[in-house]
Amino acid sequence: MDVAIVGSGYVGLVTAVCLAHIGHSVVCCDNNEDKIKALKSGHVPIYEPGLDDLLAKYLKSGRIAFTTSIGEAAKKATVIFIAVGTPSKKNGDADLTYIENVAREIAKNMDSYKLLVEKSTVPAQTGDRIARTIRLNLPARHKQGKNVTLEFDVASNPEFLREGSAVEDFMHPDRIVIGVESKRAERLLREVYKPLKATVVVTNLATAEMIKHASNSFLATKISFINSVAQICERVGADVEKVAEGMGYDKRIGRAFLNAGIGYGGSCFPKDVDAFVCLAEKSGYDFKILKSVRDVNEHQRESFIRLIEDKLWIIKDKTIAVWGLAFKSNTDDMRSAASLTVIEALQNEGANIQAYDPQAMPNAKKMLKGVKFCHDPYAAAKGADCLLLLTEWDEFKQADMIKTRELMRQAVIFDGRNFFDAKVLGELGFEYYGIGRGGNA
Ligand code: UDX
Ligand code: UDX
Repeated sequence: MDVAIVGSGYVGLVTAVCLAHIGHSVVCCDNNEDKIKALKSGHVPIYEPGLDDLLAKYLKSGRIAFTTSIGEAAKKATVIFIAVGTPSKKNGDADLTYIENVAREIAKNMDSYKLLVEKSTVPAQTGDRIARTIRLNLPARHKQGKNVTLEFDVASNPEFLREGSAVEDFMHPDRIVIGVESKRAERLLREVYKPLKATVVVTNLATAEMIKHASNSFLATKISFINSVAQICERVGADVEKVAEGMGYDKRIGRAFLNAGIGYGGSCFPKDVDAFVCLAEKSGYDFKILKSVRDVNEHQRESFIRLIEDKLWIIKDKTIAVWGLAFKSNTDDMRSAASLTVIEALQNEGANIQAYDPQAMPNAKKMLKGVKFCHDPYAAAKGADCLLLLTEWDEFKQADMIKTRELMRQAVIFDGRNFFDAKVLGELGFEYYGIGRGGNA
């Protein structure tokens, strides 16, 4: 099929390349000219495992093309996915300016039936607004009085792609959610995803939008729940890692997303939780659980900072090594990363930060001032009074911890991800502090 994707960021680009991989002919659009130029020459501007190779393959075969023109992208395609950013406004509500602009631009260029598909996470009822924008902006030749003579549909097909494993998640989805208002839209979207042979859940538009809200918010709730449990573990001498394992065997609960740590970050959970709370408020419901999820997440970062202050004693003029800056491993994404909050708080108290991340340093340099960025983990550890593990990159598992200890001024580790084996590090002479690891530290 001929498909178009508008917005070539983390979500749009993965979707485009993977749709080419399953046999479609894809035109991918973005209003960022530099990005499109880079993509045309086969350069992937983000770090996402597996994406470079697939892009190179389908650029060569001509199954994927890039443009800055929405009109050009939409011309041939029947199905158009919208994957532009939906940032948060100051009040937490989603800012849908880009979505409206894209819908207007598509309408102006429409001359045949189109199916517009929301891929970006948007508040429920956005589909109705997109449809209205299309009707209002269609050229006069497609209108008879108040009536629109050109057929189109709007659908919702939320993404469930985790950065770092987005290609894998696309190819092997747990489910594909399709929110449609017509049989034609359902048939087209089923055809798009047919090669994946996945479970397809078909609903109306608003229900699909709600599935996305509810899924991400539930995952965020799981994380805040285990982080709350971790707080108590610390106080009563229990180990949250074992608690999560013991809970996780229960099929009704599951072990996934029960990793205690410095809280969730990234471009989705913080923004999506805020947007869901806002949507609930607008509809007259006070979503207390989700407000607490958010509070717990903030508290988790603060309590990590308090722990460092407590154990390190004086922060001023101390040298603090940071391993990992990205909001999670296997990505270069720094959006709402916990490292930003932790580093800024310690800098405000006079600490000198020496940091290393395998992929996120170019993005981190734009967001963090006064940090010494190092070329490897050992350079970051050199002369440090303590080491903070903030992102769980595999590379740190392979690090020579004896060498690290010898390079440091004080062998103290604060493990924000419960990534290291507390016992092993203890035997190597480190003072180890994890999250919720009472009796084990
Ligand atoms: C975005 C949304 O933020 C998220 O809520 C949603 O679930 C998926 O889409 P992401 O792909 O991570 O997530 O964002 P980003 O990497 O910023 O990509 C958005 C792209 O859209 C950028 O490349 C930007 O240049 C482009 N864009 C933005 C347009 O092409 N046109 C616009 O009008 C605005
Ligand atoms: C999320 C959704 O999982 C995905 O389906 C899609 O909707 C986009 O948003 P992403 O933000 O890329 O994906 O990463 P995810 O793996 O969900 O992690 C989000 C944050 O939660 C990260 O900061 C991660 O470190 C944290 N996390 C995750 C925990 O703190 N504990 C866990 O057990 C799992």
